[in-house]
Amino acid sequence: MSAGADAVAAVVGAGLRTRRFGRPLVVRDRVTSTNDLARALAAGGAGEGAVAMALEQTAGRGRLGRPWRSPRGGLYLSVVLRPALDPARWPVLGLAMSVGAAVAAETLAGTLVDVKWPNDLVVGTGKVGGILVEAAGEAAVCGIGINVAPPPAEAPPAEPVGWLAMYDPRVSITALAPAVLLECERRYRRLQDNPGAVLAEWRIRSSTLGRRVQVSGAVPVEGTAEDIDEDGALLVRTAGGLRRVLAGDVVHLTVSSGQRTATTGPGWPAQPGH
Ligand code: BTN
Repeated sequence: MSAGADAVAAVVGAGLRTRRFGRPLVVRDRVTSTNDLARALAAGGAGEGAVAMALEQTAGRGRLGRPWRSPRGGLYLSVVLRPALDPARWPVLGLAMSVGAAVAAETLAGTLVDVKWPNDLVVGTGKVGGILVEAAGEAAVCGIGINVAPPPAEAPPAEPVGWLAMYDPRVSITALAPAVLLECERRYRRLQDNPGAVLAEWRIRSSTLGRRVQVSGAVPVEGTAEDIDEDGALLVRTAGGLRRVLAGDVVHLTVSSGQRTATTGPGWPAQPGH
């Protein structure tokens, strides 16, 4: 029998090292989507950093209108943000949160966690998590989903998927949630005063840049992923010139040219202060 929402809230709350993220922290046993719950919190006037978390989602959403399978055992949480950013630049929120979530996951699972454009968390070719940023009036709701323990009777997934517990069975959502919130808060705050540093971190952690890619969308794009710009768009060098891609799904057509070595130290919290 796994812990209930109140017990999870107590442990996660006790582990928080953040200033704003997770204050308040609302944990429910089962919701449609934590983005829905966070949206309701935002509509009720919740301040920046309020977090909605659930042990299970019945209608979890992914990017591009896809469902996000959300059985018990995964991390599902959404943060209310009130960014001083033009909504056209909100894609950088997703990049910042993916870097924060990847750093936390990497530190706890003890394996390299990369980011795949725009916001996927990947270990090798297996997707272990993703980020969904949605508008909620003036606020942005940033949903983070990470696969931790595989569900008992998992049908073979259609896409390559991974779970952090494959790399360290001790990883728990109660340890992961405070780590994710701290590392995401650090990147979110850095976005305000030094956005270039956050994009630089994304580039270092990226499994997409330098590869030949195919990006789906109304007009599919194929070429070499050269860089991201300050709005978080992917810059792809094609036979017809440089193309700027704002949204879509990326397929890596070539293998990575180099292996990143760990940039996080052992144990969490890894860095003093923030
Ligand atoms: C993706 O990679 O497609 C994004 C997945 C985002 C999933 C998270 S789980 C918490 C939050 N609630 C949702 O319904 N979606 C996000």
